[in-house]
Amino acid sequence: MTHQYQHDVLIIGSGASGLSLALQLADHANVAVLSKSELTEGATFYAQGGVSAVLDTCDSIDSHVQDTLQTGAGLCDERIVRFVVEHGRESIQWLTDLGVNFTRTADADGSMDFHLHKEGGHTHHRIIHALDSTGRAIETTLENKVRAHSNIELFEYRTAIDLITSDKSAQSTHINRCLGAYVYNEEKLSVEVFKARFVILATGGVGKVYLYTSNPDICTGDGIAMAWRAGCRIANMEFIQFHPTCLYHPDAKSFLISEALRGEGARLLLSNGEPFMHRFDQRAELAPRDIVARAIDHEMKRLGGECVYLDISHRSKDFIITHFPNIYQKCLCFGFDLAKQAVPVVPAAHYTCGGVMIDKHGRTDISRLYAIGEVTNSGLHGANRMASNSLLECVVFAHSAFQDIKARLSVVSMSPEVPEWDESQVTNSDEEVVVSHNWDELRRFMWDYVGIVRTTKRLHRAQSRVSLLQKEIMEYYGNFRVTNDLIELRNLVTVADLIIQSALQRKESRGLHYSLDYPEPEHGKPPQNTILVPTHERQKDFAA
Ligand code: FAD
Ligand code: SIN
Repeated sequence: MTHQYQHDVLIIGSGASGLSLALQLADHANVAVLSKSELTEGATFYAQGGVSAVLDTCDSIDSHVQDTLQTGAGLCDERIVRFVVEHGRESIQWLTDLGVNFTRTADADGSMDFHLHKEGGHTHHRIIHALDSTGRAIETTLENKVRAHSNIELFEYRTAIDLITSDKSAQSTHINRCLGAYVYNEEKLSVEVFKARFVILATGGVGKVYLYTSNPDICTGDGIAMAWRAGCRIANMEFIQFHPTCLYHPDAKSFLISEALRGEGARLLLSNGEPFMHRFDQRAELAPRDIVARAIDHEMKRLGGECVYLDISHRSKDFIITHFPNIYQKCLCFGFDLAKQAVPVVPAAHYTCGGVMIDKHGRTDISRLYAIGEVTNSGLHGANRMASNSLLECVVFAHSAFQDIKARLSVVSMSPEVPEWDESQVTNSDEEVVVSHNWDELRRFMWDYVGIVRTTKRLHRAQSRVSLLQKEIMEYYGNFRVTNDLIELRNLVTVADLIIQSALQRKESRGLHYSLDYPEPEHGKPPQNTILVPTHERQKDFAA
């Protein structure tokens, strides 16, 4: 019999968004938090640059709003942008009160204030940071708090496979409700049922669908794929952000070199030492990421080079080590001394701007199912996320979801019985190689055909590959017991399909989506979001 757990709230994901929500809800409800790996492993832990918020007296809410709208290339929802930006100061205060040790500096009058960085797209210094390891400071502070809370139960090495909904469990409710999730226990190699009054997707992005990514291994788009299969609309998946500067070294796994270096004067150079960004944008190295990544891609293709170079060696060694100790050390491990030389860099997939459609409270299309953080399309980022707006979004939406769920706790009852996980038709796999082969193939053609610069022909080519893989993976999924690799592969192929479908629908270039066949933004009508609606017909290929 399937092991069953029952909680008021089930949070799938333990990054900044999931843990922030868990901490706030735990004073009002019992909370389960799932993590695919150890608790701290997720994009949050690796965040470097910081959290954007208006704290400087020369800065203003309007300016932060305008910079975000401008970077988002016409597709941000201005009400959401204002809502998030207006909650910047209190979000920083909340994190500081928890104990996050943001870097401070002495003011002219001798008082200690936050040290503020500047990054691409921002017209002011407004990035609050903990040296160059902001994510680690936030994640470990949250971890200490949730581990100490008696109302939070943490489940590490648990992978949610699918949401349990009333529609798919023969419950006759007139609206589709989320009742819990089927979860794979990696230690016991078995599937468990988690029932809850509310379920929250806080599962992060999809970077692993590309061969080269700054994202950690857990970023396989599980939340987006689960929400899609359960019946949620998914928006703007064509807008995948490529970070311009990841270390180019075979063993560096696309280690990120923070945009904050460029904020402190680092230049991008060709192999002959020539700067080039001024030829692409007057903001040069501090143009938004889509422009910088495309410029690098263009120069690499033009010159047949494998990388470009990032140079901050005009700054003193002392300055570099004081401001960027983690990045300095990491580069040194790979044989590059930032204080003495330019380092080789390339773009890599970094951030998923689109995702599960939510409202201001994190509510999705399915009753009692919320989504927060990178898994969502909240309207904040539009066609291109501005640097350091993501961690802010995690904290702001965790708070608004908390308030909404708290208000509903007294009126929403526990879900009725849910169906057990059915393993009657499957056996253990005898062909694991199929899974690993498909992983590699998918990530490679997504990189080659659905990358920084796209064409309709390449997108069609990728689409036909995805269709073949989908058939093969679903057949495999129907015949064999699940493993982590198989669960993730099934989700990766779904998000790849969503990205390609969305990219094919956009007949223009806008923000992060650049097509050689439609090199200009479409004029004459207001820019539109790409919204994919799950119909039974469309989903049946992916459903279990
Ligand atoms: P994550 O932190 O990615 O957490 C996802 C969680 O979901 C993990 O716990 C994972 O185990 C869990 N999970 C996923 N699938 C499942 C499943 N099926 N079952 C159970 N659990 C699951 N943004 C900024 O604003 N500022 C920065 O300086 C910055 N720097 C960055 C640097 C790097 C290298 C990277 C990769 C990203 C950076 N970003 C930055 C982006 C930002 O870090 C992320 O968008 C943000 O941390 C996402 O938080 P999250 O809580 O949504 O997801
Ligand atoms: C960086 O430090 O360059 C990453 C910041 C971000 O992704 O917002």
